[in-house]
Amino acid sequence: MLSRNMQAALNKQIRIEAESSQIYLAMASYSENKGLEGVSQFMYDASDEERQHMLKLFKYVNERGGQAHVSDLVEPAAEFGSIKEMFETLFKHEVFVSQSINDLVHIALEEKDYATHNFLQWYVAEQIEEEAQARTILDKINLIGDDKGGLYLFDNDIKQLNVVSAAAPTV
Ligand SMILES: [Fe+2]
Ligand SMILES: [Fe+2]
Repeated sequence: MLSRNMQAALNKQIRIEAESSQIYLAMASYSENKGLEGVSQFMYDASDEERQHMLKLFKYVNERGGQAHVSDLVEPAAEFGSIKEMFETLFKHEVFVSQSINDLVHIALEEKDYATHNFLQWYVAEQIEEEAQARTILDKINLIGDDKGGLYLFDNDIKQLNVVSAAAPTV
């Protein structure tokens, strides 16, 4: 059984994952409008992944006798300045999510909720991968600079990059 405190913290994370999905969907629209097919597909996939992260938490809360909450969401930005700035925003957001997961792990340990602690390890590992992937992408973009031809190649390149897979199978 989840404590009230643990349940509230998990519901907060459900909201963060849902907002992550919305942020990446806005990024998909931004890059699709710029004609960057590979980048937009990457963002659509990332958005789907975040929804899976949200659902995994959602089901866990209900499974443990809590009630998963569907909250309102903050509207994400629609403009990002440039593709480079967009990926910088993505990286910063993933660092924020990692911090939020760390806070959850801390609460689970404080409350001696070892089931939730164990459940959260999947997210800890996932955040390491997502941060690493975002860093790799940023390194590539920094190499390209403002070169249009480079951006075209990058758009093709990113199609090969698989989005870090969530636990749920992608259809
Ligand atoms: Fe996530
Ligand atoms: Fe993420």
